[in-house]
Amino acid sequence: MTTKFDELLGRFHAYLASVDHALVRDAVARIAWDMPARALEPHPLGCLRHLARAVELAPPAAKPLVQWLAEHRNDLRWGQTYGEADFGKAFIDNYGWLEMFGTRGHFANEEVAAGLLILGPDIVYPDHHHVAEEIYMPLTGGTEWRMGEGGFRRRAAGEVVHHASNVNHAMRTAEEPLLALYIWRGGPLAAKSTITGTATQGRG
Ligand SMILES: [Fe+2]
Repeated sequence: MTTKFDELLGRFHAYLASVDHALVRDAVARIAWDMPARALEPHPLGCLRHLARAVELAPPAAKPLVQWLAEHRNDLRWGQTYGEADFGKAFIDNYGWLEMFGTRGHFANEEVAAGLLILGPDIVYPDHHHVAEEIYMPLTGGTEWRMGEGGFRRRAAGEVVHHASNVNHAMRTAEEPLLALYIWRGGPLAAKSTITGTATQGRG
């Protein structure tokens, strides 16, 4: 079945193929890109308002992907793993993800999950961990990332952030929103993370 989402998958693949990093090359090579599409009901979220700014911030290699997302955002099935009880209302109004492929995404893949995460400005995604190994590629800069016992480090768009299995990690945005591409592999692909951090929002 060919759908308009094939173009999205093509742009997603093209961006990943442009990333000059051994871990990403290995992950991309292991993915069977000829995946069957799923028919999913669209599910827009409030955080999609940040995509317009993400288009402006995205580096040239990511622009075609981010532009497609912004134009078609209301046709896609966006999700949230957490609720207001987990991290508060400000978080829920500024957070969402799109599973491109995986056990529940727009394309079916039982081995690997990948997609996009949005966080609005001034949002803290507290310490959490999960069995799956995670590779993040921020497509907008300015967000601070932390893994293990280390401190927060600001990452630029196009960097590769690797979270090993079961190691705590956290993110916090500053004045700009975060759009990040993620790949999950080697664990339950739809598992909810174990949260160990506190949920206070804002940078005060
Ligand atoms: Fe994670």
